[in-house]
Amino acid sequence: MAEEVKKETPAAFKVTIDNITIDVAPGTTILNAARSIGGDVAPPAMCYYSKLEGSGGKCRTCLVEVAAGSTADPRPMPKLVASCRTTVMDGMIVKNITSEKVTDARNGVVEFLLINHPLDCPICDQAGECHLQDLGYEHGKEGTRYQFARRTFKREDIGPYIQLHMTRCILCYRCTYVADQITNKRVHGIVDRGDHAAISTYISRAVDNDFSGNMIDVCPVGALTDRTFRFKNRVWFTKPVDAHRDCENPECCGKATLWLRGEEVFRVTARKDQWGEVQSFDGKPGWICNTCRFDKKETKDWTIEGQTLVARHSVIGANKYKKLEMPAETIKEVMNGRDPKLMMNIHNVSEVNNPNIQLSEIEGPAHSEDFNRSAEHVAGEGESTQWGMKK
Ligand code: SF4
Ligand code: FES
Repeated sequence: MAEEVKKETPAAFKVTIDNITIDVAPGTTILNAARSIGGDVAPPAMCYYSKLEGSGGKCRTCLVEVAAGSTADPRPMPKLVASCRTTVMDGMIVKNITSEKVTDARNGVVEFLLINHPLDCPICDQAGECHLQDLGYEHGKEGTRYQFARRTFKREDIGPYIQLHMTRCILCYRCTYVADQITNKRVHGIVDRGDHAAISTYISRAVDNDFSGNMIDVCPVGALTDRTFRFKNRVWFTKPVDAHRDCENPECCGKATLWLRGEEVFRVTARKDQWGEVQSFDGKPGWICNTCRFDKKETKDWTIEGQTLVARHSVIGANKYKKLEMPAETIKEVMNGRDPKLMMNIHNVSEVNNPNIQLSEIEGPAHSEDFNRSAEHVAGEGESTQWGMKK
């Protein structure tokens, strides 16, 4: 009888995602392999959270096409797979942004997520840093085909720090994992099933443990928001800075992002990475305690390190880049080296702008009185006599 040949698992698997081949450790999920490439190749993830055990597999936004299963069995997988729950095989070929099927499926998933989610971004505190808002812009349809009543819930008070808007919840389970894995007692969970499924504290008990505020940071939408920041400002008007303090709580990393307007600290959050997850420090997720988050709202409580680099592509990144990069000057080039007078120096050559009136020196908004004075102006060499100028 032929002896069975046992093949050793290679130390690294070769996987190709959107035509980019990389080596990853066996056991890596497709999503994490794609994240190591970065950029648009990484599928969006609304429920997976690398720092929360057991997360993923709920929202289906991370679907990808597996065009070849492995070198040993290169058949394509018959259906799209959830990349956060599927591990890579040696020689696997995956398509994300290069697959029309994926784009189509993701459009459908976003449409489903928005069936019940209200489009209340103009009044939602999560606007500007909401993953569903970003997805909606990329994959959303202009209108809805849904003709039934949306889910409604009775308002539930879950304590003084966290505001629950159940209609915005996409049931990703992240907050319940935080309650299970980070706080010392879990007092909330998902009750009921199907259309009735809801985040609840069962008996409306307050979520009052030291690390409950981290639920706000993991919530990908505006279902759990910071009550102390409620309706106070839009996130894109605030300036995030990295700061730290010596926190008395040994479980708290003490490293946070302060969202400032001038000297005023509007809110405190954990520091986030480019995937919107809390950053890790010394190999541990940088969760922060409720004292740092809700009680330390003065700059003197913190040592400010510098401006936060916002890596996410979102309106939240507006005006928050560390370095200003000026676009290359091309106007002179296209004008064969001539000064772009007509475009750039219109004040001096235009007959509309009276050169005798320096608009920049007029206090407040200019009005007709200022321009009527142009009639008193005696035109100089090369100036037009239009607009009442005397020669
Ligand atoms: S409240 Fe937020 S974090 Fe919790 S399940 Fe709903 S969407 Fe997810
Ligand atoms: S991120 Fe994979 S299913 Fe939600």
